[in-house]
Amino acid sequence: MTAALGPVWLRSGPVTLRPWTDADAPVVLAALHDPEIVLWNGSAVPDIAAAEAWVRRRADWSEGDHASFAISATAGLALLGSVSLHEIDPVQGDAEIGYWVAAQARGHGLAARAVTLVCRWAFAVLPVDRIELAHAVENAASGRVAERAGFTLEGRLRRSYRYGDGVKHDELLWSRLRGDGGSSTGVCGTRA
Ligand SMILES: CC(C)(COP(=O)(O)OP(=O)(O)OC[C@H]1O[C@@H](n2cnc3c(N)ncnc32)[C@H](O)[C@@H]1OP(=O)(O)O)[C@@H](O)C(=O)NCCC(=O)NCCS
Repeated sequence: MTAALGPVWLRSGPVTLRPWTDADAPVVLAALHDPEIVLWNGSAVPDIAAAEAWVRRRADWSEGDHASFAISATAGLALLGSVSLHEIDPVQGDAEIGYWVAAQARGHGLAARAVTLVCRWAFAVLPVDRIELAHAVENAASGRVAERAGFTLEGRLRRSYRYGDGVKHDELLWSRLRGDGGSSTGVCGTRA
């Protein structure tokens, strides 16, 4: 747990990361039934009440253990995806990052840009100097996101995580350290 921090807005060109709101719940309900998201993110959200609870957990940063953002286009704040820094551990100085993008919004660099933004922000304001990213070896798109967001491949974790298909997959583990990659130019953070 780290010192409580309120949700913030982050912006980089066409992408805005914003706090979650209750109004996002219907889109979350639909997105979390997408077969790729069911497989690789595996959140079980059966109905609108569960979707509202899902959104509210991500809007509440009071425990200090996560920093979760809705991905939107800067031009309009409709929900396009999710990016979350979780398992924030100020003692070890590390955290994990996870994400998904709604099917209709994929292939435009949203995830890579969102992950980059969150990492730059986190290294500037949180007591972490290492962020880990893991994905199933079969999830090539997620590997491209890691690469484009400045992560370094560290290795293969054998049979390390049970995904939405009920099977334990080998994963690739990546990390980004404070000081890796570019500067924080272009990141604007404001209090919600
Ligand atoms: C993985 C995911 C978040 C990527 O989102 P996105 O906004 O489309 O990602 P980006 O546009 O930033 O980049 C995607 C990259 O993957 C590539 N890609 C997309 N589908 C691919 C596939 N099936 N195989 C290989 N590469 C693929 C794209 O070409 C692009 O690479 P490029 O930079 O060389 O052009 C999105 O596909 C998704 O939500 N998938 C389902 C859930 C998921 O996998 N979550 C991550 C769990 S670790």
